[in-house]
Amino acid sequence: MNKRILLGITLILGVCNLSSQTIIPIHTDRTSLIFSVEPDSTLSFQYYGNKIQDCSYFIGKQTYRRSDYGTDPLAYPTAGGRFFNEPALSVVFPDGDLNTELKYIGHKDSIIVPNEVYQTTINLVDKKQKLNVSLVFKSYCENDIFTASTIIENLNKKDIRLTRFYSSFLPVKANRYYLNTFYGAWAQEMNMEQSLLTHGIKSIESKKGVRTTHTENPSFMLALDEPLQEETGCVIAGALAWSGNYKINFQLDEFNLLSISSGINPYLSDYKLGHKERFVTPEMIYTYSDKGAGQASRNLHDYARKYVVYDTPHELPTLLNSWEGAYFDFDENVIKKMIDDAAEIGLEMFVLDDGWFGNKYPRNSSKQGLGDWQVTQSKLPNGIGALVDYATQKGLKFGLWIEPEMVNPQSELAEKHPEWIVKAKGRKITTMRNQWLLDLSNPEVQDFIVETFKRIMSENPNIAYIKWDANRHVESVGSDYLSVDKQSHFWIDYTKGLYNVYSRIRSLYPHLLMQACSSGGGRVDYGALKYHQEVWTSDNTDALSRIFIQYGTNMIYPASVTGSHVSATPNHQTGNQTSLKFRFDVAMGGRLGMELQPQALKPSELTFARNAISQYKTLVRPLVFKGDLYRLLSPYEEHGFCAYMYTSKNKSTAITYVYNLKYQGRTHFPQIKLSGLSPQKKYKVKEINTMDEKSVFWGNNQTFSGEYLMNEGMNIKLTQCNSSAVFYLEEVNQ
Ligand code: GLA
Repeated sequence: MNKRILLGITLILGVCNLSSQTIIPIHTDRTSLIFSVEPDSTLSFQYYGNKIQDCSYFIGKQTYRRSDYGTDPLAYPTAGGRFFNEPALSVVFPDGDLNTELKYIGHKDSIIVPNEVYQTTINLVDKKQKLNVSLVFKSYCENDIFTASTIIENLNKKDIRLTRFYSSFLPVKANRYYLNTFYGAWAQEMNMEQSLLTHGIKSIESKKGVRTTHTENPSFMLALDEPLQEETGCVIAGALAWSGNYKINFQLDEFNLLSISSGINPYLSDYKLGHKERFVTPEMIYTYSDKGAGQASRNLHDYARKYVVYDTPHELPTLLNSWEGAYFDFDENVIKKMIDDAAEIGLEMFVLDDGWFGNKYPRNSSKQGLGDWQVTQSKLPNGIGALVDYATQKGLKFGLWIEPEMVNPQSELAEKHPEWIVKAKGRKITTMRNQWLLDLSNPEVQDFIVETFKRIMSENPNIAYIKWDANRHVESVGSDYLSVDKQSHFWIDYTKGLYNVYSRIRSLYPHLLMQACSSGGGRVDYGALKYHQEVWTSDNTDALSRIFIQYGTNMIYPASVTGSHVSATPNHQTGNQTSLKFRFDVAMGGRLGMELQPQALKPSELTFARNAISQYKTLVRPLVFKGDLYRLLSPYEEHGFCAYMYTSKNKSTAITYVYNLKYQGRTHFPQIKLSGLSPQKKYKVKEINTMDEKSVFWGNNQTFSGEYLMNEGMNIKLTQCNSSAVFYLEEVNQ
């Protein structure tokens, strides 16, 4: 019998009358998370970090905290008792009791996937009230990931009110804490920001609902003792799998202990639980690396691709999206011509974006028609079906844009169902991008979306891809569906309603490709990725901005989910002007697409595009989708370069991207030391996407050892502002 199980059984049997401390270890291949049960049945936190196989030394471990200075680190602290920091859970009980004090009653280890994924569930109860709390930890051994979630169950006859309900609580012990988070705005997502934490609380959060990840992403990298480095140093990375309001608190207390509490944001969200009702929190994902941010990212990426992102074995198709090339201004002929052009340059899918629906109020601008999901007859008299067939004949898949959570006031849907619109009674309903939000806490609205989806798919069964958009957040919160005493459930029930819709759709269309878009990167989180193969990383398609956006996004999320398009120049969002090569070199760092009017390209540009797309499909894409990311130079550094690479798992091929973001004069050339190769292997280095076959590397097409490439590196001639180079490396046997 597995040693873990033995330990589990031993503990379950012997647990109730513990006379001394008992240890509960949760291991991955290289890390350990360790709890202990104290003689008074308190569940304490002991350790998170590199693996400690023999946990017996934690028994009797002492701290110098005076017993009346509050508690030692707890596994899941609650409001009340002796605990005075930010708690993981706070409850108001029917008798007015504001205290919760949990004690351990048992735990259970189980195998989810043999030799891969294990689960440990630790059961706690309140010392006085009828409240059960289960801490659920899953360990993904190979990827050094553990996830934490909590189940709260009310066994009182009367309702209880939860006022905080975090997924996880993690104390961290170091001497200095450097927090890296990802902030931004629409078209400017996932900028990295590092701060040395000082005493007090720093939180990242969203209170917006629906579009929750533009301003701050529910993820972080915490570097211990030293600022974040790529290949060295201890790092804890975390990400929450939830597409609603979230909050992650970092509290540095007087003991210099940092406590991370993370989960659904309690903001305006008191949640009532009736007798025997349970509240299940989303999962908080953690990884620990003693090899810097690079290893933390690779752990998350591998875990995401294997266990989270929907249906990932796919390499997603390259595509042409109609939005920036046509906006609302198209008819059947315009779209057919775009399909012709997409086929001509070797793209594999055409996606018809916004503007195809509405008859009483045709969707010719963002002002009307949203919610009326019937094809606009005047624009597309032969329906979507004719376009799907046309694309199919040309060898392309077909994708369609929808935004089913939203409605324009000027629409038949809003006229018919005013009760479905999110609003506070007696208050003005604000519009955002001329639209209102449908109330997904209402099961009727959930049914409407599923039925609409089914109708679109049954009319056009060959649709291969759906871009699911959501272009506003919540304001003037209120639901006609929820009772007065449950209005504060709205934020949570909306997201649960959305997940219900997603999972019903997924059971109906298991093979459909789906992109999570929310005005670009407004829904980039591990919750949404359970139902989607990719995200629309940002509405900003400017290559210069994308270098930063993609660099930040891929700290936490794998490149395989990063939709990345070549658009027109000057770019529509920023006005920046960059070469087609530069735009391709950036877009090829993720799932490549184009989003422009191909007719606007010159013949020489079309030739370049055809070539780049072909190389992407054969050489680059397998590495973007399945390779390991190694970041080489950060765009945030003074030097003005950005470089990174993807290496195949067997280290036989790699692709290296280098971007120069500023004029370097005639004297400064980047020295690119590669990473993640095998030192003994020999690699032929070939620059791809070249203009006129000219390479910026003197050693182009030559063979070098991995040892040379990783230590001496490649000295390349890249001095002009906004210039770039991409190198394909292939192992040669000589
Ligand atoms: C959002 C999306 C864009 C595009 C438009 C259409 O802004 O992020 O990609 O689909 O909506 O209205």
